[in-house]
Amino acid sequence: MNTAKKDTPVCLTGIKPTGTPHLGNYFSAILPAIKLSKLYRCYFFIANYHALNAAPNKEKLERETLEIAACWLACGLDPKEVLFYKQSDILEIFELMVILTSYTPKGLMNRSHAYKAKVQENAKLGRDADATVNMGLFNYPVLMAADILLFKADVVPIGHDQLQHLEVTNDIAQAFNNATQSTLLTLPRPLLSKNTETIKGIDGRKMSKSYGNTIPIFQSKAKLRQAVMSIVTTSQTVAEPKDPDSCLIFSLYKLFSTAAEQGTLRKRYLEGGMGWGEAKEALLEKILSRFHKERMRYDEFIMNPDFLQKTLATGAKKAREHAALFMHELRSTLGIA
Ligand code: TRP
Repeated sequence: MNTAKKDTPVCLTGIKPTGTPHLGNYFSAILPAIKLSKLYRCYFFIANYHALNAAPNKEKLERETLEIAACWLACGLDPKEVLFYKQSDILEIFELMVILTSYTPKGLMNRSHAYKAKVQENAKLGRDADATVNMGLFNYPVLMAADILLFKADVVPIGHDQLQHLEVTNDIAQAFNNATQSTLLTLPRPLLSKNTETIKGIDGRKMSKSYGNTIPIFQSKAKLRQAVMSIVTTSQTVAEPKDPDSCLIFSLYKLFSTAAEQGTLRKRYLEGGMGWGEAKEALLEKILSRFHKERMRYDEFIMNPDFLQKTLATGAKKAREHAALFMHELRSTLGIA
């Protein structure tokens, strides 16, 4: 969508640079977001400050930031249509965050899921309620509110786990607007991704980096193969007929195949004589051919970090032009011009 069109609604989302992109990310976040870029004025960014409270090391954070950039570009994000940037390049986000803290009730933060989970864990361990809690974790929702409110986002594509953060963003925006008798902050709406629960990992649970059950998209063929070959199956013999509808391999195969192809594989399952190895090979082949172009482009991008940095810097420069105008307006409303 043409970024210059003023009345087109704004869509914004942040991507945490944690872990190498996998099929779950692709179907639940990347693909839907790229589709949205045809309908909205989009701001997509790498939330590297959000990654800091988990104390990543320097090399890992740098590498994963570039991996995310290469991945989204390889999957079809067009940086001419979408403002694509690193959070850390938009200094206005951090200024806005400081402003927003004055309109954020502390009790609201106390009720935040991530913080509450830490407090509960500490209680179980008989430790001080705030042991291992840093202010980055506590303020995480305010930083996220600043990301969103700075660019007047109308819609924010997220997974269910981020819903509370969006509610908090709305609460903070409303508190600010009430206190300043203004409508300066736009109340954003969540766009919930439907796929998050349906993409299963190699152990049958939801595919997630934290479960270590992912199928990576852009790693070597050997690694991809290893992940596919580790998909959990029953101990049925080759000769036995098998049930496609309760099979993890088949459920993943469906993501990449036509109805006719699914019909052919279904038949192979039902008539017996097909081992799990064969089904896994069929899946692997589908994944490789589906991502053939993307994998080639990814390799080109990742070999060219300067290009990636430049692309992100160009996105940031454009985004900051919008941010600066907005912050000017906000400061004058507050009497801090
Ligand atoms: N908190 C989000 C996550 O963990 C990432 C994120 C940061 C984000 N800022 C955002 C998402 C703003 C949407 C909008 O996935």
